[in-house]
Amino acid sequence: MVQNAVEINDVCVKFNKRPILHDIDLIIKDNDFLAIIGPNAGGKSTLLKVILGLVKVDQGTVKVFGQNPGNQSNPLGYLPQHVSFDPDFPINVFETVLFGRYHGFFKKYSDLDHEKVKNALEEVGMLEMKDRQMSQLSGGQIQRVFIARAIVREPKLLLLDEPMASIDPEMQNSFYSLLLKLRKRMAIVLVSHDVGAVSSHVENIACLNRKLYYHGAAENAARSLEKMYKCPIDLLSHGIPHRVLKNH
Ligand SMILES: Nc1ncnc2c1ncn2[C@@H]1O[C@H](COP(=O)(O)OP(=O)(O)OP(=O)(O)O)[C@@H](O)[C@H]1O
Ligand SMILES: [Mg+2]
Repeated sequence: MVQNAVEINDVCVKFNKRPILHDIDLIIKDNDFLAIIGPNAGGKSTLLKVILGLVKVDQGTVKVFGQNPGNQSNPLGYLPQHVSFDPDFPINVFETVLFGRYHGFFKKYSDLDHEKVKNALEEVGMLEMKDRQMSQLSGGQIQRVFIARAIVREPKLLLLDEPMASIDPEMQNSFYSLLLKLRKRMAIVLVSHDVGAVSSHVENIACLNRKLYYHGAAENAARSLEKMYKCPIDLLSHGIPHRVLKNH
């Protein structure tokens, strides 16, 4: 039986009695590549945290592969928006990714863990730099290492919160190529500000600003975003990503 990766029904989330997510309905298929776009403070990161089980909902239901968030047997791959790491802390690329296989304080890493780390690093094109200190990497290379860490448990759903933030346009293309490769074996949800940049790569687009507006197929979405909802997109084209500026 084909199972949806995520089923969200009628979800509301409040922080300090203030509604942050309102009446959210969303189905993410197990082979989807969905971009969630929207303005600052629209609730994008919060929605990812709801899927991860890190934020509890005040109303509605959430199922991840048919189970409650945080309880599913398959771990999810997650790249947080702000990955904190101390540039002075002596840790190399391999060790950073190995940490994604952490089994608990008393359990040692196995040969299989090491094998999986190698595979993940190869996949993101960072195997040659496995012994390099994290402090000696560029922003784009650091992102690749964190992607490797997010996929090292072979998740069926990968959640990426603004992964393009510190990546230049050329690097972004190779980053999307990587995601297109990964999506053959996992659903991907990509949170981004940039409608123009994501619309040519992803399959579906949803726009979140407290409420979720599902725009469906990406090729039509950028245009229909403006037409249907008068969504104010900054039409600076010519390679500069479009930007959602205001509320719907
Ligand atoms: N733990 C929390 N407690 C209280 N308020 C919170 C909490 N987390 C987020 N918020 C508030 O919820 C709103 C949505 O935040 P969220 O981080 O989900 O937005 P976002 O769409 O990811 O924004 P950005 O594009 O800036 O990353 C914001 O107003 C934020 O201040
Ligand atoms: Mg965010």
